[in-house]
Amino acid sequence: MARDAQAIAGVERLRFFPLAAIAGRGELLVEPGGRELLDLSASWTAAGFGYGNPAIAEAIAAAAATAPGASILSGTHPDAVALAEELLELVPARAPEQPRRVYLGHAGTDANDVALRGCRHATGRPGVLAFEHGYHGGFGAAQGVSGVHVAAGASADPDVVFLPYPDRFRPHTGDAAMVVDDVLERAAAALSRGRIAAVIVEPLQSDGGLIVPPDGFLAGLRALCDEHGSYLIVDEVKVGLGRTGRTHAFEHAGIVPDVVTLGKALGGGVPLSAAIGPADVLDEPTASALMTTIGNPISCAAGRAVLALVRDGAATRNADERGTQLRALLAQYAASGRPGAERVGDVRGLGLSIGVELVVGAGDDAPDAVLTAKAAYRAWELGAVAFPVRGNVLELTPALTISAEAIDRAATILTRAIDDAAAGAVSDEQIAAFQGW
Ligand SMILES: Cc1ncc(COP(=O)(O)O)c(C=O)c1O
Repeated sequence: MARDAQAIAGVERLRFFPLAAIAGRGELLVEPGGRELLDLSASWTAAGFGYGNPAIAEAIAAAAATAPGASILSGTHPDAVALAEELLELVPARAPEQPRRVYLGHAGTDANDVALRGCRHATGRPGVLAFEHGYHGGFGAAQGVSGVHVAAGASADPDVVFLPYPDRFRPHTGDAAMVVDDVLERAAAALSRGRIAAVIVEPLQSDGGLIVPPDGFLAGLRALCDEHGSYLIVDEVKVGLGRTGRTHAFEHAGIVPDVVTLGKALGGGVPLSAAIGPADVLDEPTASALMTTIGNPISCAAGRAVLALVRDGAATRNADERGTQLRALLAQYAASGRPGAERVGDVRGLGLSIGVELVVGAGDDAPDAVLTAKAAYRAWELGAVAFPVRGNVLELTPALTISAEAIDRAATILTRAIDDAAAGAVSDEQIAAFQGW
């Protein structure tokens, strides 16, 4: 940790406790010294199919040994084309008669950046409608439309309009029943001015606090985009590819987006992302979104191995079942009368995208970010990895392949961590070195 502090740039640190790993296996990380940690983050979902997944590891090793080039910029290779074709097969088409394309990138950030600039280019409109506390990327246009970054001081995109994301637990209208209608009314007003190229939205807002949108929200946005000739970009980077118990999280809303972005788990631990959308959005201008190692054979082979796991369906079904199991165990705890139980304001999620919102307690639902930081720290001490988002929400996104026994252990560790943190087991000094977000 000391050498890390001297060598690794602060701009890429988002630390919550002294986590260091020398190996990983499935849902486990191994610390120096050999202690095993149950990883309930899966590296922010990038290891969605588990560390060292044999199918992915084999594909990567084979591609590395005989790589047919290192890029698709100026030449193609079979895994890049097949990966793009498989993505076109996996992601439903909004208008089947219109040609679609796939941008292959390195991270959710560039996939969203390309999607946004493509929609702007195709419509000739500058505006983007996005949501407060949303996360679409850490650089460029994707960062400028990310409410999380803008709230933390990053420059907002000059043409972004932010709206509240409908949250029934903390309704911006004061009335949970009104949140969807209010947001859609505001969206209609913004779209009717005719300057909006695209609406970009997470189908379940993750870094914004694991907020599952109420019924009608995404369908309402879909209808408004159609009415006003704007594109609907659904950002599935964190919750796609089976995590919510469906192949695509937008399926829960019964909609089909114009552009879908994928990342994180798509690469099975190596950098890979994709934007899938109309050729009008992703073809022009030629050679305007270049990074040298885009479409490299190693990432593409990993992506194809991941898509085979997605098509198999077992991980998606497991996400649904294990998610239901974990939410039930946490809800049981919240109702248990144990020392930290009253600090659990809400347990929510879809599949294995789960949020545990920690509050002041004793009838006060005010967010308690300090308790959350301490509970995450205590969970690490007890042997589990879970990171806070939105200050006071513990995000639980383990590998989709996690076992029922590991879920039981996760609930045991997390509930004890909340009990202990509420009882003062972690000091202010212990968390002071970790700035988090
Ligand atoms: C919903 C969503 N979109 C995009 C991104 C950006 O992905 P990346 O960090 O791979 O650039 C993230 C990262 O947290 C995310 O959660």
